Amino acid sequence: MTTIPQEKVLDNSIRLLLEGFPFIQNRVERFNSNIFKTRILFQNVICLHGEEAAKIFYDPDKFMRLGAIPNRIQNTLMGKDAIQTLDGAAHLHRKAMFMSLMTPDSLHQINRLMSQQWQRYIKKWEQMEQVVLFEEVQDLLCRVACAWTGVPLKEKEVRKRAQDFTAMVDAFGAVGPRHMRGRKARKRAEKWIEKVIQQIRKGDLEVPDGSPAHVMAFHRDHDDNLLDKHMAAVELINLLRPIVAIATYITFGALAMHDHPVAQRKIADDEENYVEWFVQEVRRFYPFGPFLGNRVKNDFSWGGHDFKKGTLVFLDIYGTLHDPNIWEHPHEFYPYRFKHWKGSPFDLIPQGGGDHFSGHRCAGEWVTIEAMKVSMVYLAKHMTYEVPQQDLSYSLVRMPTRPKSNFIITNVKANELPTQVDRT
Ligand code: HEM
Repeated sequence: MTTIPQEKVLDNSIRLLLEGFPFIQNRVERFNSNIFKTRILFQNVICLHGEEAAKIFYDPDKFMRLGAIPNRIQNTLMGKDAIQTLDGAAHLHRKAMFMSLMTPDSLHQINRLMSQQWQRYIKKWEQMEQVVLFEEVQDLLCRVACAWTGVPLKEKEVRKRAQDFTAMVDAFGAVGPRHMRGRKARKRAEKWIEKVIQQIRKGDLEVPDGSPAHVMAFHRDHDDNLLDKHMAAVELINLLRPIVAIATYITFGALAMHDHPVAQRKIADDEENYVEWFVQEVRRFYPFGPFLGNRVKNDFSWGGHDFKKGTLVFLDIYGTLHDPNIWEHPHEFYPYRFKHWKGSPFDLIPQGGGDHFSGHRCAGEWVTIEAMKVSMVYLAKHMTYEVPQQDLSYSLVRMPTRPKSNFIITNVKANELPTQVDRT
């Protein structure tokens, strides 16, 4: 057995917060090794980096989620005991339900709802002196998320609900007030959605059969019990919250177009497949999730190292997306790299790796790609706008991150809005 490079520290949690996204990659480069040991939250952690490591990380015989996700993340980001924490048959059963909602028809519906909302918002923005894109797009996505799932959303609640979904995501790398905001936001959202679940179950709220809210309200777990109303709410929020979170990628997409006007023209000119490559490159290039956690399920050896049952293991998302052995010139924004991409499930892993149905890979990855594509076409083709002087830089220390100004645009004008869409 070889020895894994090991940091001689009591604990590295503070350094993780100080270094942010590149924390694992910094050490991969320093140790010249895709695997090393450190200490986070006063426990030993093995950090893994790269495509081969991702293949191991997603092997369900080797790893489990039990005890891998700290309570502080469950109490803000994803909810207690949600799908992200399940293993084995319980996970497969719940995941099958989530994936049953991701049909081509669903994606088409999301595409149509996105298009309707973009048209509505462009008209609204024409009347505004300045538009804070990140915030406006959160509201737009919140309307889409509620309409798609079947959750009623009162006009006066749109901003508050969108803010709460955003606060849950904003809390994941935070301590102090940002973390507390995420907890409070989750409590409010769970109370709201539990009520929706109850109303659907009692027949006081009619939602279409097969709509996500209906499916969640009547889902039976693998032991054939109806989810309790809290769990059903947590899982329905697992659809609503991440749809609103796509605002981060849309804002980064707007930034990429601003920095690369040629790319904007190619999207506007409908150059074949370009918008798809552009969206993939936005998801690769810009930071969102830094790493993922698992625990060793059974002892095993890999790469000459012993992994002992119960050990916490992190997979480096940000570093793998910026690894020069996988991506040529990884710190350049270059959508054409996806023209010849082989489609490995273990290299482009901003939303996890492996298989959507049998593993923990993001259930909403196709929704994300679809919603981003529609949004990039609206930004590039169906509106014109100016980007005034502002601080567009983003921190790699803050997790999650986004352009500091939230991307302000002015002088918005609609431009050849497509006519085939119902604009009600
Ligand atoms: C899981 C990222 C959008 C629903 C995940 C995971 C990541 C991720 C990193 C964990 C993968 C793992 O544990 O191995 C993102 C990002 C998004 C996004 C960056 C863009 C904003 C969405 C959307 C939905 C969604 C739009 C639903 C409509 C889920 C669910 C899981 C998940 C249900 C749990 C899957 C499981 O544990 O089996 N996502 N996601 N996500 N995501 Fe997303």
